[in-house]
Amino acid sequence: MRLRIDYPIFFKTTENARWNLVSDVPWADFDVLHVSERELAIVKQAAIVEAYSPTYATDVLPLFRNEPQMAGFISIQYYEEYKHSHALRLYLTRAGVELADVDVAGEDGAAPGYLDRLTCCLKFGVSEVFTAVFYEELARQTRCPVLKVLSSLISKDEWRHLSWYVSYIDGLLDEYPERATALESAIEGYQHQGLDALTSWVDFWAEVGREYTGAKPYLVLNRVLRRLAGRRVSTRGLAQLVNSGTDQVFH
Ligand SMILES: [Fe+2]
Ligand SMILES: [Fe+2]
Repeated sequence: MRLRIDYPIFFKTTENARWNLVSDVPWADFDVLHVSERELAIVKQAAIVEAYSPTYATDVLPLFRNEPQMAGFISIQYYEEYKHSHALRLYLTRAGVELADVDVAGEDGAAPGYLDRLTCCLKFGVSEVFTAVFYEELARQTRCPVLKVLSSLISKDEWRHLSWYVSYIDGLLDEYPERATALESAIEGYQHQGLDALTSWVDFWAEVGREYTGAKPYLVLNRVLRRLAGRRVSTRGLAQLVNSGTDQVFH
């Protein structure tokens, strides 16, 4: 058994955290005067990446065909990620920005073909940190009350997803001779999930990193990885792969 968090606990927490797209978002407070073009462009990219989640699921689920609890988590996670896309699309429609279905279908790249569970879970776990911080900061910065609530709700989902990945990785590392070394070599193979969905993702993320996330995801990651490994784990390779603009912070 690899999981540190019991599935019943995860499920109960998830059910309690479930938010309603109609009644928990103050749509009536929407006013186009609160919306900035810059935010709309960023929300549009976020909606596209979130919409790629059913494809992520088909890439990841085969790794866990003998682990129903992990497969169960992934099923719920990707339901929630797609819900994020749907919610952001509704928001964009209110703001007069239409996303065509073809825009959210993702670009037709090859499937990543994961070789092992650790690399896969690290990839998606790390991505949760970046997205959680991004939505948290978007909620803090925006003047739009609707986007503020929506981003905050999404961010809480992303933090919960992270807790499950950390729980799984924690158990999985028992199977490796040395926890920190295993994490460091998985980091070498890291690729942010956004790259699966958008070939223009690196440029997009460089801007988002400057405006919204900065160093915070790395501070969170350093703490999480240290807890998992029992010692400091270098995130040098990760920073270079994620955003060349922030890598100097953690060398
Ligand atoms: Fe999401
Ligand atoms: Fe997530």
